[in-house]
Amino acid sequence: MATILTITANPLLDHLAEVALTIGRVHRIKRFAPAAGGKGLNVARVLARHGHRVLAAGFLGGSAGEQIIDLVRADGVEPSFTPISGNTRVGFLLTDPTPGPHPTTRKKSKPSGPTAVMENGPDISAGEIAALIAGVRERLRHVDLVIISGGVPSPNCVELYRLLLDVCAVAQVTCWVDGYGPAMDAALAGVHPPALVKPNRDEYGDDGRRWVVAGELHLSDGGGEMNIRTPQGRFRVIPPPVHEVNPIGSGDCYVAALAHARLTGLDLVSQLRYASAAGAANAARADVAGIGPADIVRLVDLVQVTKIS
Ligand SMILES: Nc1ncnc2c1ncn2[C@@H]1O[C@H](COP(=O)(O)OP(=O)(O)OP(=O)(O)O)[C@@H](O)[C@H]1O
Ligand SMILES: [Mg+2]
Repeated sequence: MATILTITANPLLDHLAEVALTIGRVHRIKRFAPAAGGKGLNVARVLARHGHRVLAAGFLGGSAGEQIIDLVRADGVEPSFTPISGNTRVGFLLTDPTPGPHPTTRKKSKPSGPTAVMENGPDISAGEIAALIAGVRERLRHVDLVIISGGVPSPNCVELYRLLLDVCAVAQVTCWVDGYGPAMDAALAGVHPPALVKPNRDEYGDDGRRWVVAGELHLSDGGGEMNIRTPQGRFRVIPPPVHEVNPIGSGDCYVAALAHARLTGLDLVSQLRYASAAGAANAARADVAGIGPADIVRLVDLVQVTKIS
């Protein structure tokens, strides 16, 4: 099994519940399920469930940060966070218990999708940024793959991904970046672009030119067709149809499953099948990145992969 370092610059102490939400009403529930949120922590959780050694880096502060450390440990992931003086953000995610349409095409516009409310990220000082980069550099010696996911908490972190890519390049460790916003743009404009990127349609935007520098592009579209460019050719992937309950984190599950499939030596088409099945398996559940190998395997044969000549 491999060692993977995930980097989540803006973790989230999430609180999940299934509620048929009516705006303006009081809803009583038994309890919120706390979860270590933030895209890199979703990736970490799924990889740990596949038996890999997973280190989770990122900024953490305050009591929400402490709770995330406990949750991450309970998920079988090794916390490798950088402490900050600010407070890690908190959020709430409400999913409708009634199943969605079958099959779905584009998720984020679905009016009955999950309802998420979350704080913005904390301010991060220049010293905290330097400490995170130094911490990552120290750990790279024993790491097979670095995966950076999500957005950054404050505007002064705009160069963070680019700097981390430089550190990985010096250490000759492959680095995938599944990010968005100005920090992603800076990463794509740097001297060492990501080995792999996985934007969704919204993140990709109308002008795809800036993504060309990435070694591999996995362009996803919820339950719709994926377009993939790799050094071994271009592929079209149609995910398996599922009853969509909560698609949040499907991209993270895709990335985690792709990393697992690649690091364990599956051929490229099998990697794409496994990754797409993982995204679909996640979309069919209320929790986020709660899937394991058994949930993925049962959907693998329903994925359609076509090589584009
Ligand atoms: N409704 C769905 N039905 C089937 N497969 C899905 C569905 N939603 C997502 N997937 C699978 O997950 C993959 C990634 O999904 P998506 O495009 O939603 O990623 P994303 O927007 O990056 O998600 P996130 O950032 O919340 O993790 C898809 O390519 C597909 O394989
Ligand atoms: Mg995503």
